Amino acid sequence: MKTALLSMLRNSDTYLSGQELCNYFGVSRTAIWKVINQLKDEGYVIEAVQNKGYRLIQSPDCLSSSEILSRLKTEYAGRETHYFSEIDSTNAKAKQLAADGAPHGTLVLADTQKEGKGRRGRNWSSPSGSGIWMSLIVRPEIIPSKASMLTLVMALSVSKALRELTGLTIQIKWPNDIVINGKKLCGILTEMSAEVDYIHSIVIGVGINVNTTDFPEELMQTATSFYLETGKMMNRSEIITEILLAFEQYYDTFIKSGDLSLLREEYNNNLINKNREVKIIQGKEAFTGISKGIEDNGELIVQKEDGTVVNVLSGEVSVRGVYGYV
Ligand code: BTN
Repeated sequence: MKTALLSMLRNSDTYLSGQELCNYFGVSRTAIWKVINQLKDEGYVIEAVQNKGYRLIQSPDCLSSSEILSRLKTEYAGRETHYFSEIDSTNAKAKQLAADGAPHGTLVLADTQKEGKGRRGRNWSSPSGSGIWMSLIVRPEIIPSKASMLTLVMALSVSKALRELTGLTIQIKWPNDIVINGKKLCGILTEMSAEVDYIHSIVIGVGINVNTTDFPEELMQTATSFYLETGKMMNRSEIITEILLAFEQYYDTFIKSGDLSLLREEYNNNLINKNREVKIIQGKEAFTGISKGIEDNGELIVQKEDGTVVNVLSGEVSVRGVYGYV
C-alpha cells in the first residue's frame, strides 16, 4: 500500500482526501494515517489539511524500492527493484540474482558499494548518499558477440536522461563514459553470463557521480559530479527512473533491428569524440587518427593519418583525446 499511496500522492495535482484513500484501499483512516506517518519518517514532506486531505510537498533523496516504483513509467525495467543501503558491488549482486532466475529488467541499487567495480579490474569509488550505483539485468535473445552493443545502448539512455533533466551538454565518450565539461560523470560496466552461443543474462552496471563533493586527488583532473559542475544537489531516484524509461525505448529498438543501425545517428550526434583527434591505445601499440563515429555494430571508425580507415573494437582499446581524457 505504501508504494501505491506514494504514487497517488506523486501523480496528483491536488489534495487526496483521506476518505477517498480509505475507499480506494479499503482500509480505515487510521491505517492511511499510519502509512502517511511512515512516509514522513522516511523524509517525505506531506501536507495534511483538514477537509482537503494530503499533498506531497517534497521527496527525500532516497533510493528505496517504494521511491523508485512510485516514479517508474516503464513496462519492465526496474519493476523488480532490490535496494541495499550497503553492498559489495551491485553488479556482483545482480549476477547472483540473475543466476537465481531474476526476471528481465530487474534492478539492483545501493546507496554505497564497498567493492564497486570499474572496467578492467579497476575500483569504482561509491560513497554513500552521493551517487547512483545501479545494475540492470537483461535477458536479450541475441548472440554473445553483440552483447557489448548494450553498453552503448545504456550510454545513450544515460546521456539522454541526464540531458533532458538538466538541460546541460552531456556527451558520450566512446564506448561508454558520460562526460560533462570534458570530465567523466558516469561509467558503465557490462558483464555477461553466457555459453559460447547463448546468453543467459547480461548485467549493465552504471555509476553516476551526482552529489559527490570531492574526489581523490588523482581523479580530480578527469572525474566530476553534477554537484561540482552546477553547485546544485539533484534527486537520484528521479534520474534513475528517467534512465530506465529511456533505456527501455532504446533497448526495444536495438532488439528489433538486432544492431545499432537505428540508434547510430543519435549516438554519433552525442559523441564527444566525433571528428576529433583520438589516440587509440591497443596494448603496447598506439596510433592517432580522427574518429568518425560508430558503425552499426558499435565499433569506432577511425581515419588514420595516412588516410586509411580502421574500425576499432571496444574490448581491445583505450581511447584518449590527443591532449588528455577527451
Ligand atoms: C568504468 O570503469 O567506467 C565503469 C564503472 C562502473 C561502475 C558501476 S557502479 C554500479 C555497478 N556496480 C559495480 O560494481 N560497478 C558498476
